[in-house]
Amino acid sequence: MKRVSLTQYLVEQQREHGRIPAQLRLLIEVVARACKQIAIAVNKGALGDVLGSAEKENVQGEIQKKLDIISNEVLIEANEWGGHLAAMASEEMDSIHVVPNRYPQGEYLLLFDPLDGSSNIDVNVSIGTIFSVLRKVGHAPGVSEEDFLQPGKHQAAAGYCVYGPQTMLVLTLGNGVAMFTLDRETGSWVLTQSGVRIPADTREFSINMSNLRHWAPPMRRYIDECLAGTTGPRGKDFNMRWVASMVADVHRILSRGGVFLYPWDQREPDKPGKLRLMYEANPMAFIVEQAGGEATNGSQRILDIVPEKLHQRVSVILGSSNEVQRATRYHTENGAA
Ligand code: AHG
Ligand code: MN
Ligand code: MN
Repeated sequence: MKRVSLTQYLVEQQREHGRIPAQLRLLIEVVARACKQIAIAVNKGALGDVLGSAEKENVQGEIQKKLDIISNEVLIEANEWGGHLAAMASEEMDSIHVVPNRYPQGEYLLLFDPLDGSSNIDVNVSIGTIFSVLRKVGHAPGVSEEDFLQPGKHQAAAGYCVYGPQTMLVLTLGNGVAMFTLDRETGSWVLTQSGVRIPADTREFSINMSNLRHWAPPMRRYIDECLAGTTGPRGKDFNMRWVASMVADVHRILSRGGVFLYPWDQREPDKPGKLRLMYEANPMAFIVEQAGGEATNGSQRILDIVPEKLHQRVSVILGSSNEVQRATRYHTENGAA
């Protein structure tokens, strides 16, 4: 079988399909290389002294793990000198990181969740890196947080890397979804699946069930009906899977279908949800839509949301389209978001 590397895939996208400018091609290659470096640190585990807490808090008030900080630094160092970026934003940084003056400024903005699934780091369960790419609009000099506040539908590319039994990179440039597997012997990303499709129907849902009593009525209704199985209104049995790393849960959905939900919760009524719009929901929604699935916050398409701030939270329902539509309909019928 002829092996297609990530580099070859990107060159073909640039040359034959005219889909990506050279700066974007470089950006993806640099992010992929940084993910390789993070994968090496993840694999070392206790041997590399990368496990455990860093005993610091991030801007969202979460205790940072050592790997959250290491991954953030790897992504910044890899990306700041190439001339492809104007600035970066990260779940682990209070404000944007503008490319220093000593390097040329490019036209792209990179956003990332450097290490997703932090609670799984120390227990040897799949974790990942999620990234989103926007283009800086307008030619005004300098770059500010405002430049980042674009709806997800304007993403030029998005992807994630999952550090699991295999290390895989999943990518969309806006024309479908491709998956690459890291060949550790050659150090190269090899295309292992293209044209990824999420089936419209599923019997599998993914949600943190321990929060059930805190959800709004439409979310409880949706899950109650799934749990009722063959004797309930759905007339079929459902299975539940919850890794608690969004990358791993979304990766399963891209591989065999399913619906992922992270709803609003009455314990913090002013917070729309746990997940972050710019670093988690937008890139995943773009990938899922490009694979034929759907993604909403219960009242609107995630990719249409105009962000008001960088670290904004959002409720998430994504995956197989018929289930996303049903769960969303329960919310809109109820008049709740
Ligand atoms: P992060 O590690 O980047 O903070 O994200 C964790 C997220 C997401 O990956 C996962 O779906 C969710 O948090 C799990 O949270 P709970 O276990 O608290 O439900
Ligand atoms: Mn995350
Ligand atoms: Mn994270």
